[in-house]
Amino acid sequence: MEENILLDSSLSKAEQYQQLLPQIEALIEIEEDRIANLANISAVLKYGFNFFWVGFYEFKNDELVLGPFQGPLACTRIKPGKGVCGTAYQEQQTILVPDVTKFEGHISCNSATQSEIVIPIIKNNKVVAVLDIDSEQLNHFDEVDQMYLENLAQIISTKW
Ligand code: SME
Repeated sequence: MEENILLDSSLSKAEQYQQLLPQIEALIEIEEDRIANLANISAVLKYGFNFFWVGFYEFKNDELVLGPFQGPLACTRIKPGKGVCGTAYQEQQTILVPDVTKFEGHISCNSATQSEIVIPIIKNNKVVAVLDIDSEQLNHFDEVDQMYLENLAQIISTKW
């Protein structure tokens, strides 16, 4: 297996995603175990983009349960409709939060988090998990992140 992921930080954000996504696709193509793949994807995103926290919550028995992640300790269970993750789950759409203090019901797992994006992973019209990315900077995420991360979520959904 290729141990290194190539990511040229001099490229624009869109170009960095374009460089990264095919490598992630290749990485998970050769491994069938979902946990192993989600763990590696968390690491690639966290260290590639230097995000504060990157992880997955999988929908199990009526709630979102913490899955593979990279970053500090996190909340383990989130009910549908609660927080940003539960809202993305319920609405089946990406939620961009430029300032977490302005999102009613935001679940603060770490006080350093200032902005976040949560992308649902959808399989057969059902949300099977969400990808949650947190930043220590306000307004960190935009439509470019949304577009490429939704693309990634589609790639990941093939593993369910
Ligand atoms: N921010 C999330 C909770 C999960 S932690 O940030 C890792 C939310 O409000 O759903």
